[in-house]
Amino acid sequence: MTETKFAGIRACVFDAYGTLFDVHSAVGRHQARLGDKASAVSALWRTKQLEYTWLRSLMEKYVEFWQITGDGLDYALESYGIHDIALRQDLMSAYKQLDCYSEVPEVLSKLKDAGFTTAILSNGSPEMLKAAVDATGLSALIDATLSVHELRTYKPRPNVYKLAVDHLNVGAEQISFQSSNAWDASGAAAFGFQVAWVNRFGQASERLPGRVRAEIRTLDELLALVSD
Ligand code: LAC
Repeated sequence: MTETKFAGIRACVFDAYGTLFDVHSAVGRHQARLGDKASAVSALWRTKQLEYTWLRSLMEKYVEFWQITGDGLDYALESYGIHDIALRQDLMSAYKQLDCYSEVPEVLSKLKDAGFTTAILSNGSPEMLKAAVDATGLSALIDATLSVHELRTYKPRPNVYKLAVDHLNVGAEQISFQSSNAWDASGAAAFGFQVAWVNRFGQASERLPGRVRAEIRTLDELLALVSD
């Protein structure tokens, strides 16, 4: 992918799960109890969680991301023959307090020092996002936390991305949006943001609409990209 430097950015908006917060850190904390199924359970949990957001949006049967997260976990545990109520509870509690990726605090702090507005735009319900931000000590570094919950639908519906424009009072083209989820990066680019795909896992590009302008490996590369 050719990397185009961004221009005229005023706000840096971040996806939450997978981008700022490490979704696999929940299973990571209870790895011993899952044994050799740990990474497969974590991967299927994430896959199902995302599928349920897309499917429920199509069905127009919204429930909060917290319930979807639990439903995805139940599917994953059953698929691997794990029936352990205490473990299920501990994994859900861990999901409320995920680790953030190591570079996140410093990157947010530098962006704020440079005068950018910082925000989260996520599928997460407001309570989940507040818990995650508080647990990682990021609250002073994030100006706004925006949740799909007020619209009762999920990404990549265009009206979700519009929340950032409406709440931050800047034009779509003045927003740099970062997501490690390539489909989310596409949705945001199709809406009109300047988008950096944080390809943390070395995945192939999605064949979806929207021109993602930059592919970065971690958020460390962001400040240089958005600075004029
Ligand atoms: C989010 C999901 C897509 O935080 O990771 O919106």
